[in-house]
Amino acid sequence: MHVAILGATGAVGRTMLDVLAEREFPVDELTLLASERSAGSRLSWQGREYTIGTPRDGTFRGVDVALFSAGGARSREWAPRAAEEGALVVDNSSAWRMDPEVPLVVPEVNPEALSNRSKGIIANPNCSTIQVVVALQPIHRAAGVTRVVLTTFQSVSGAGEKGREALRQESAGQSAADSPFTRSIAANAVPQIGPFDADGWSEEERKMINEPRKIMGISDLRIAPTCVRVPVEVSHSVEMMVELGRDLSREEVMAIFSEAPGVVVAEAPDGFPTPRDAAGRDEVFVGRIRKDLHIPRTLHLWVVADNLRKGAATNAVQIAEELVVARSG
Ligand SMILES: NC(=O)c1ccc[n+]([C@@H]2O[C@H](COP(=O)([O-])OP(=O)(O)OC[C@H]3O[C@@H](n4cnc5c(N)ncnc54)[C@H](OP(=O)(O)O)[C@@H]3O)[C@@H](O)[C@H]2O)c1
Repeated sequence: MHVAILGATGAVGRTMLDVLAEREFPVDELTLLASERSAGSRLSWQGREYTIGTPRDGTFRGVDVALFSAGGARSREWAPRAAEEGALVVDNSSAWRMDPEVPLVVPEVNPEALSNRSKGIIANPNCSTIQVVVALQPIHRAAGVTRVVLTTFQSVSGAGEKGREALRQESAGQSAADSPFTRSIAANAVPQIGPFDADGWSEEERKMINEPRKIMGISDLRIAPTCVRVPVEVSHSVEMMVELGRDLSREEVMAIFSEAPGVVVAEAPDGFPTPRDAAGRDEVFVGRIRKDLHIPRTLHLWVVADNLRKGAATNAVQIAEELVVARSG
Protein backbone atom coordinates (compact mmCIF):
# COMPACT_ATOMS: atom_id res chain seq x y z
CA MET A 1 0.00 0.00 0.00
CA HIS A 2 1.32 3.44 -0.87
CA VAL A 3 0.46 5.80 2.01
CA ALA A 4 0.93 9.58 1.96
CA ILE A 5 0.70 11.87 4.99
CA LEU A 6 0.10 15.57 4.43
CA GLY A 7 1.07 17.31 7.69
CA ALA A 8 3.59 14.61 8.62
CA THR A 9 5.66 16.97 10.79
CA GLY A 10 2.72 18.10 12.96
CA ALA A 11 1.34 16.78 16.25
CA VAL A 12 -1.22 14.56 14.50
CA GLY A 13 1.04 13.59 11.58
CA ARG A 14 3.80 12.33 13.87
CA THR A 15 1.25 10.38 15.88
CA MET A 16 -0.04 8.86 12.64
CA LEU A 17 3.42 7.53 11.94
CA ASP A 18 3.51 5.90 15.39
CA VAL A 19 0.04 4.41 14.95
CA LEU A 20 0.76 3.06 11.45
CA ALA A 21 3.82 1.28 12.84
CA GLU A 22 2.09 -0.04 15.99
CA ARG A 23 -0.89 -1.38 14.06
CA GLU A 24 1.36 -2.85 11.36
CA PHE A 25 -0.55 -1.08 8.64
CA PRO A 26 0.61 -2.59 5.33
CA VAL A 27 2.83 0.29 4.15
CA ASP A 28 4.98 -0.56 1.11
CA GLU A 29 5.67 3.01 0.15
CA LEU A 30 5.45 6.16 2.24
CA THR A 31 5.30 9.78 1.08
CA LEU A 32 5.68 12.43 3.79
CA LEU A 33 4.49 15.95 3.05
CA ALA A 34 4.38 19.24 4.92
CA SER A 35 4.88 22.94 4.22
CA GLU A 36 7.77 24.70 2.48
CA ARG A 37 9.16 25.29 6.00
CA SER A 38 9.92 21.58 6.41
CA ALA A 39 10.65 20.70 2.79
CA GLY A 40 13.95 18.81 2.51
CA SER A 41 14.12 17.93 6.21
CA ARG A 42 14.12 14.27 7.20
CA LEU A 43 11.97 12.02 9.39
CA SER A 44 12.79 8.45 10.26
CA TRP A 45 10.15 5.74 10.38
CA GLN A 46 10.66 2.02 10.93
CA GLY A 47 14.42 2.37 10.53
CA ARG A 48 14.26 4.28 7.24
CA GLU A 49 14.84 7.96 6.54
CA TYR A 50 12.27 9.90 4.54
CA THR A 51 12.68 13.35 3.03
CA ILE A 52 9.74 15.69 3.57
CA GLY A 53 8.20 17.02 0.37
CA THR A 54 5.45 19.49 -0.42
CA PRO A 55 2.31 18.58 -2.36
CA ARG A 56 2.42 19.27 -6.09
CA ASP A 57 0.53 18.17 -9.20
CA GLY A 58 0.99 14.41 -9.50
CA THR A 59 2.12 13.87 -5.87
CA PHE A 60 -0.87 11.62 -5.16
CA ARG A 61 -0.71 9.58 -8.36
CA GLY A 62 -0.18 5.95 -7.31
CA VAL A 63 -1.04 6.73 -3.66
CA ASP A 64 -3.66 4.36 -2.20
CA VAL A 65 -4.46 6.20 1.05
CA ALA A 66 -3.68 9.84 1.80
CA LEU A 67 -3.93 10.86 5.44
CA PHE A 68 -4.39 14.63 5.73
CA SER A 69 -3.62 16.65 8.86
CA ALA A 70 -2.42 20.01 7.64
CA GLY A 71 -5.43 22.25 8.41
CA GLY A 72 -8.63 23.13 6.59
CA ALA A 73 -7.17 25.38 3.88
CA ARG A 74 -4.76 22.67 2.69
CA SER A 75 -7.52 20.06 2.80
CA ARG A 76 -9.89 22.21 0.78
CA GLU A 77 -7.17 22.71 -1.82
CA TRP A 78 -5.54 19.27 -1.91
CA ALA A 79 -8.16 16.66 -0.94
CA PRO A 80 -10.12 16.90 -4.24
CA ARG A 81 -6.86 16.94 -6.21
CA ALA A 82 -5.54 13.87 -4.36
CA ALA A 83 -8.87 12.08 -4.89
CA GLU A 84 -8.77 13.04 -8.57
CA GLU A 85 -5.29 11.49 -8.79
CA GLY A 86 -6.71 8.24 -7.39
CA ALA A 87 -5.96 8.38 -3.64
CA LEU A 88 -8.58 7.76 -0.97
CA VAL A 89 -8.30 10.73 1.36
CA VAL A 90 -8.90 10.52 5.12
CA ASP A 91 -9.02 14.11 6.27
CA ASN A 92 -8.52 15.31 9.85
CA SER A 93 -9.50 18.93 9.27
CA SER A 94 -12.99 20.36 9.55
CA ALA A 95 -13.07 21.28 5.84
CA TRP A 96 -15.26 18.39 4.59
CA ARG A 97 -16.98 17.11 7.73
CA MET A 98 -20.42 18.55 7.10
CA ASP A 99 -20.43 17.96 3.32
CA PRO A 100 -23.40 15.63 2.70
CA GLU A 101 -21.37 13.70 0.12
CA VAL A 102 -18.50 13.07 2.55
CA PRO A 103 -18.88 10.43 5.25
CA LEU A 104 -17.92 11.50 8.78
CA VAL A 105 -16.78 8.31 10.41
CA VAL A 106 -15.94 6.79 13.78
CA PRO A 107 -15.45 3.08 13.06
CA GLU A 108 -16.99 1.97 16.39
CA VAL A 109 -20.13 4.01 15.64
CA ASN A 110 -20.92 4.28 11.92
CA PRO A 111 -18.58 2.18 9.76
CA GLU A 112 -21.44 1.65 7.30
CA ALA A 113 -21.11 5.33 6.25
CA LEU A 114 -17.82 4.43 4.53
CA SER A 115 -19.71 2.93 1.62
CA ASN A 116 -20.59 6.45 0.39
CA ARG A 117 -17.24 7.49 -1.06
CA SER A 118 -18.42 9.38 -4.11
CA LYS A 119 -15.92 12.22 -3.56
CA GLY A 120 -13.05 9.92 -2.55
CA ILE A 121 -12.81 11.82 0.74
CA ILE A 122 -13.64 10.55 4.23
CA ALA A 123 -13.70 13.01 7.11
CA ASN A 124 -12.34 12.30 10.57
CA PRO A 125 -14.46 14.07 13.20
CA ASN A 126 -13.36 16.70 15.68
CA CYS A 127 -11.26 15.19 18.51
CA SER A 128 -13.75 15.82 21.34
CA THR A 129 -16.63 14.67 19.17
CA ILE A 130 -14.98 11.28 18.63
CA GLN A 131 -14.75 10.40 22.31
CA VAL A 132 -18.26 11.73 22.96
CA VAL A 133 -19.90 9.58 20.27
CA VAL A 134 -17.90 6.45 21.19
CA ALA A 135 -19.36 6.78 24.71
CA LEU A 136 -22.86 7.88 23.63
CA GLN A 137 -23.57 5.30 20.94
CA PRO A 138 -23.82 2.16 23.14
CA ILE A 139 -26.05 4.03 25.59
CA HIS A 140 -28.12 5.35 22.69
CA ARG A 141 -28.59 1.83 21.29
CA ALA A 142 -29.79 0.61 24.70
CA ALA A 143 -32.01 3.45 25.83
CA GLY A 144 -32.19 6.26 23.25
CA VAL A 145 -30.28 9.46 23.97
CA THR A 146 -32.58 12.48 23.84
CA ARG A 147 -30.41 15.31 25.15
CA VAL A 148 -26.77 15.95 26.11
CA VAL A 149 -25.27 18.80 28.13
CA LEU A 150 -21.50 18.65 28.26
CA THR A 151 -18.37 20.52 29.28
CA THR A 152 -14.98 19.71 27.77
CA PHE A 153 -11.54 20.10 29.33
CA GLN A 154 -9.34 20.11 26.24
CA SER A 155 -5.57 19.71 26.20
CA VAL A 156 -3.19 22.15 24.56
CA SER A 157 -2.03 19.58 21.99
CA GLY A 158 -5.52 19.88 20.49
CA ALA A 159 -4.14 23.13 19.06
CA GLY A 160 -1.13 21.34 17.56
CA GLU A 161 2.57 21.87 18.23
CA LYS A 162 2.01 25.60 18.79
CA GLY A 163 -0.36 24.81 21.65
CA ARG A 164 2.17 22.53 23.33
CA GLU A 165 4.91 25.10 22.90
CA ALA A 166 2.75 27.87 24.41
CA LEU A 167 2.16 25.79 27.56
CA ARG A 168 5.88 24.92 27.77
CA GLN A 169 6.98 28.55 27.47
CA GLU A 170 4.38 29.98 29.83
CA SER A 171 5.06 27.26 32.41
CA ALA A 172 8.73 28.33 32.29
CA GLY A 173 7.68 31.91 33.01
CA GLN A 174 8.19 33.13 29.44
CA SER A 175 5.64 34.77 27.20
CA ALA A 176 4.43 32.66 24.27
CA ALA A 177 4.56 34.97 21.27
CA ASP A 178 3.11 32.37 18.88
CA SER A 179 0.38 31.06 21.22
CA PRO A 180 -2.80 29.87 19.48
CA PHE A 181 -4.81 30.71 22.64
CA THR A 182 -6.66 33.94 23.36
CA ARG A 183 -5.49 34.03 27.00
CA SER A 184 -2.53 32.68 28.97
CA ILE A 185 -2.93 28.94 29.26
CA ALA A 186 -0.50 28.03 32.08
CA ALA A 187 -2.37 27.79 35.42
CA ASN A 188 -5.56 28.86 33.67
CA ALA A 189 -8.77 27.61 32.03
CA VAL A 190 -9.97 29.32 28.85
CA PRO A 191 -13.63 28.84 27.85
CA GLN A 192 -13.00 29.68 24.22
CA ILE A 193 -11.93 27.30 21.45
CA GLY A 194 -12.27 29.04 18.09
CA PRO A 195 -14.11 32.27 17.38
CA PHE A 196 -17.53 33.00 18.92
CA ASP A 197 -20.54 33.43 16.64
CA ALA A 198 -23.22 36.10 16.98
CA ASP A 199 -25.12 33.93 19.50
CA GLY A 200 -22.07 33.42 21.72
CA TRP A 201 -21.24 29.81 20.72
CA SER A 202 -17.62 29.02 19.88
CA GLU A 203 -16.62 27.29 16.65
CA GLU A 204 -15.62 24.16 18.61
CA GLU A 205 -19.02 24.11 20.35
CA ARG A 206 -20.80 24.33 16.98
CA LYS A 207 -18.74 21.35 15.77
CA MET A 208 -19.79 19.42 18.86
CA ILE A 209 -23.44 20.12 18.11
CA ASN A 210 -23.35 19.31 14.40
CA GLU A 211 -20.89 16.42 14.12
CA PRO A 212 -22.48 13.95 16.61
CA ARG A 213 -25.83 14.48 14.86
CA LYS A 214 -24.32 13.46 11.52
CA ILE A 215 -22.29 10.52 12.90
CA MET A 216 -25.13 9.10 15.02
CA GLY A 217 -27.78 9.87 12.40
CA ILE A 218 -29.97 11.84 14.83
CA SER A 219 -30.54 15.12 13.04
CA ASP A 220 -32.40 16.75 15.95
CA LEU A 221 -30.24 15.52 18.85
CA ARG A 222 -30.24 18.27 21.49
CA ILE A 223 -26.65 19.03 22.56
CA ALA A 224 -25.41 21.97 24.64
CA PRO A 225 -21.59 21.98 24.83
CA THR A 226 -19.19 24.31 26.62
CA CYS A 227 -15.62 23.84 25.39
CA VAL A 228 -12.74 24.81 27.66
CA ARG A 229 -8.99 24.74 27.02
CA VAL A 230 -6.98 23.61 30.06
CA PRO A 231 -3.23 23.38 30.75
CA VAL A 232 -2.99 19.64 30.14
CA GLU A 233 -0.52 18.47 27.50
CA VAL A 234 -2.41 15.51 26.01
CA SER A 235 -5.95 14.02 26.31
CA HIS A 236 -9.31 15.70 26.41
CA SER A 237 -11.81 15.11 29.23
CA VAL A 238 -15.57 15.60 28.92
CA GLU A 239 -18.22 15.77 31.64
CA MET A 240 -21.52 14.75 30.06
CA MET A 241 -25.09 14.89 31.32
CA VAL A 242 -27.05 12.45 29.16
CA GLU A 243 -30.85 12.32 29.11
CA LEU A 244 -32.27 8.95 28.02
CA GLY A 245 -35.52 7.78 26.48
CA ARG A 246 -35.80 5.05 29.12
CA ASP A 247 -34.26 4.63 32.53
CA LEU A 248 -31.08 2.59 33.01
CA SER A 249 -29.57 1.58 36.35
CA ARG A 250 -25.92 2.36 37.08
CA GLU A 251 -25.16 -1.35 36.88
CA GLU A 252 -26.84 -1.62 33.47
CA VAL A 253 -24.79 1.33 32.22
CA MET A 254 -21.57 -0.27 33.43
CA ALA A 255 -22.54 -3.55 31.78
CA ILE A 256 -23.28 -1.73 28.50
CA PHE A 257 -19.90 0.02 28.56
CA SER A 258 -18.03 -3.15 29.46
CA GLU A 259 -19.28 -4.65 26.17
CA ALA A 260 -18.88 -1.48 24.08
CA PRO A 261 -16.18 -1.45 21.37
CA GLY A 262 -13.27 0.87 22.11
CA VAL A 263 -14.47 1.74 25.64
CA VAL A 264 -12.74 1.04 28.96
CA VAL A 265 -14.80 1.51 32.13
CA ALA A 266 -12.97 2.74 35.20
CA GLU A 267 -14.87 1.31 38.12
CA ALA A 268 -15.52 2.52 41.68
CA PRO A 269 -14.34 3.04 44.37
CA ASP A 270 -11.43 5.15 43.10
CA GLY A 271 -11.45 4.21 39.44
CA PHE A 272 -11.77 7.28 37.32
CA PRO A 273 -9.73 8.10 34.25
CA THR A 274 -7.51 11.16 34.05
CA PRO A 275 -5.83 12.69 30.99
CA ARG A 276 -2.54 11.12 32.05
CA ASP A 277 -4.16 7.66 32.20
CA ALA A 278 -5.52 8.02 28.67
CA ALA A 279 -2.37 9.55 27.10
CA GLY A 280 -0.72 7.11 24.70
CA ARG A 281 -3.79 4.85 24.68
CA ASP A 282 -6.29 4.26 21.87
CA GLU A 283 -9.42 3.57 23.94
CA VAL A 284 -12.06 5.94 25.27
CA PHE A 285 -12.15 5.81 29.08
CA VAL A 286 -15.42 6.27 30.98
CA GLY A 287 -15.81 6.80 34.72
CA ARG A 288 -17.75 8.69 37.43
CA ILE A 289 -20.94 7.02 36.18
CA ARG A 290 -23.83 8.46 38.18
CA LYS A 291 -27.56 8.85 37.88
CA ASP A 292 -28.78 12.42 38.29
CA LEU A 293 -30.42 12.89 41.70
CA HIS A 294 -33.15 15.22 40.45
CA ILE A 295 -33.78 14.67 36.75
CA PRO A 296 -35.29 11.31 35.76
CA ARG A 297 -33.62 9.05 33.12
CA THR A 298 -30.45 11.15 33.28
CA LEU A 299 -26.82 10.05 33.65
CA HIS A 300 -23.55 11.82 34.32
CA LEU A 301 -20.37 10.49 32.72
CA TRP A 302 -16.69 11.47 32.74
CA VAL A 303 -15.11 10.55 29.40
CA VAL A 304 -11.39 10.84 28.65
CA ALA A 305 -9.34 10.02 25.52
CA ASP A 306 -6.01 10.87 23.91
CA ASN A 307 -6.90 13.60 21.41
CA LEU A 308 -3.88 12.91 19.20
CA ARG A 309 -4.61 9.17 19.04
CA LYS A 310 -8.31 8.22 19.21
CA GLY A 311 -9.23 11.88 18.65
CA ALA A 312 -7.22 12.02 15.41
CA ALA A 313 -4.49 9.60 14.26
CA THR A 314 -5.88 6.29 15.50
CA ASN A 315 -9.36 7.03 14.22
CA ALA A 316 -7.91 7.98 10.81
CA VAL A 317 -5.80 4.81 10.62
CA GLN A 318 -8.80 2.70 11.69
CA ILE A 319 -10.72 4.25 8.78
CA ALA A 320 -7.81 3.47 6.45
CA GLU A 321 -7.83 -0.14 7.70
CA GLU A 322 -11.54 -0.43 6.85
CA LEU A 323 -10.81 0.96 3.38
CA VAL A 324 -8.00 -1.53 2.83
CA VAL A 325 -10.35 -4.39 3.74
CA ALA A 326 -13.02 -2.95 1.41
CA ARG A 327 -10.49 -2.59 -1.45
CA SER A 328 -9.12 -6.07 -1.10
CA GLY A 329 -12.61 -7.59 -0.60
N1 LIG B 1 -4.23 18.21 17.48
C1 LIG B 1 -5.34 17.52 17.60
O1 LIG B 1 -5.66 16.98 18.68
C2 LIG B 1 -6.24 17.34 16.42
C3 LIG B 1 -7.32 16.47 16.56
C4 LIG B 1 -8.19 16.29 15.47
C5 LIG B 1 -7.96 16.97 14.31
N2 LIG B 1 -6.88 17.83 14.20
C6 LIG B 1 -6.69 18.51 12.93
O2 LIG B 1 -5.51 18.01 12.32
C7 LIG B 1 -4.85 19.02 11.58
C8 LIG B 1 -3.40 19.13 12.05
O3 LIG B 1 -3.37 19.41 13.44
P1 LIG B 1 -2.05 19.34 14.28
O4 LIG B 1 -2.49 19.45 15.68
O5 LIG B 1 -1.19 18.21 13.87
O6 LIG B 1 -1.32 20.73 13.85
P2 LIG B 1 0.22 21.13 13.83
O7 LIG B 1 0.97 20.44 14.90
O8 LIG B 1 0.22 22.60 13.78
O9 LIG B 1 0.73 20.53 12.41
C9 LIG B 1 0.31 21.10 11.19
C10 LIG B 1 0.93 20.33 10.04
O10 LIG B 1 0.45 20.89 8.82
C11 LIG B 1 1.57 21.24 8.00
N3 LIG B 1 1.29 22.43 7.18
C12 LIG B 1 1.02 23.69 7.60
N4 LIG B 1 0.87 24.52 6.52
C13 LIG B 1 1.06 23.75 5.42
C14 LIG B 1 1.08 24.03 4.03
N5 LIG B 1 0.87 25.26 3.55
N6 LIG B 1 1.30 23.01 3.17
C15 LIG B 1 1.54 21.75 3.63
N7 LIG B 1 1.56 21.43 4.95
C16 LIG B 1 1.32 22.42 5.83
C17 LIG B 1 2.67 21.53 8.99
O11 LIG B 1 3.92 21.47 8.35
P3 LIG B 1 5.20 22.33 8.87
O12 LIG B 1 5.77 21.55 10.02
O13 LIG B 1 6.08 22.33 7.67
O14 LIG B 1 4.71 23.68 9.27
C18 LIG B 1 2.44 20.40 10.00
O15 LIG B 1 2.97 19.20 9.47
C19 LIG B 1 -5.69 20.29 11.77
O16 LIG B 1 -6.59 20.39 10.69
C20 LIG B 1 -6.44 20.01 13.05
O17 LIG B 1 -7.66 20.71 13.12
C21 LIG B 1 -6.03 18.02 15.23
